Amino acid sequence: MNIEWDKLGFAFMPTRSNIRFHYADGKWDEGKLCSDYNINISVAANVLHYGQAIFEGMKAFGCKDGKVRIFRPDENARRINASARQLLMPEFPVEKFVEAVKTVVKDNADYVPPYGSGGSLYIRPVMFGTTPQVGVAPSKEYELVIMVMPVGAYYKGGIKPVDAMISRDFDRAAPHGTGHIKAAGNYAASLLSGKIAKDNHCPVALFLDPATHTCIDEFSTSNFLAITADGKYVTSRSDSILPSITNKSLMQIAQDLGMVVERRQVNVEELATFTEVAACGTAVVLTPVGRIFDGDKVYDYKLTEIGPVLEKLYKQMTGIQYGELPDTHNWLVEI
Ligand code: PLP
Ligand code: COI
Repeated sequence: MNIEWDKLGFAFMPTRSNIRFHYADGKWDEGKLCSDYNINISVAANVLHYGQAIFEGMKAFGCKDGKVRIFRPDENARRINASARQLLMPEFPVEKFVEAVKTVVKDNADYVPPYGSGGSLYIRPVMFGTTPQVGVAPSKEYELVIMVMPVGAYYKGGIKPVDAMISRDFDRAAPHGTGHIKAAGNYAASLLSGKIAKDNHCPVALFLDPATHTCIDEFSTSNFLAITADGKYVTSRSDSILPSITNKSLMQIAQDLGMVVERRQVNVEELATFTEVAACGTAVVLTPVGRIFDGDKVYDYKLTEIGPVLEKLYKQMTGIQYGELPDTHNWLVEI
């Protein structure tokens, strides 16, 4: 194993093992660690045609004291179950999920980027229906696989500001659809907007609420947040966005720092009034947004680095994750 820890981006890399569970006859099995990264399923498997697939994302950190800790895996366990309920997939017991995550992280402990490298171990659970079928119906059998891989920054340049483009031609989610769960299909639906954004030199697409297209929903892989001129933390409230665990944590941190937090509908026109804007999520952490393009309009936050308020939030968040600051809310799970 010869990993250049400080040069990691956000890319797939096989590690020693993944952990797999199979659901049949109404129950999950005990699971097993597996070194193989391939699966053998029927070409008629539900997931390939009818898309019963949901996933999660969380991280383990190599902390200052040399221990490895996982950030809020119980939250991901609850969220995968919310996704499962919506797509008529079986829930997975929360305790068992957290234990499985601990087991696979422990087995791959030497793949956790060392403290100080800026990296982390990304943990990716995915659940999908494997029953061969041609009629549209929920699968009877499922697989839950949890894989791990060392990662660095999601966007090239780390936490340097990225440009975003509002997706005016396509939505990632429908009103009363699946935008609020982590369904694999949501990401397929966002790819074309992502390509249009990239073709316009913007690494990220920003989606509007699909019912009225007047309010900000979220980015394709992260929530939207902004800082107002009077220092408030504002983030979108919408039925079609994913409830981000990073955003929930940052809102708590902002409150701990004495900031006012507003979770509410955010009108597109308000973009002209914010002093700082960011994308937040497990993969992107807290990535500042430099400019937002909307047709001929440009909202320019005139940033070459992360802004002062976001920097404070970023340092507090990563300080807790790497064990440099006290974990006062008991977010970290030691392996
Ligand atoms: N929104 C979308 C669409 C995402 O894919 C993600 C990433 O998981 C997030 C928001 C952020 O969620 P979290 O902070 O739980 O990773
Ligand atoms: C995450 O942040 O964990 C995600 O799942 C986003 C992703 C699609 C890269």
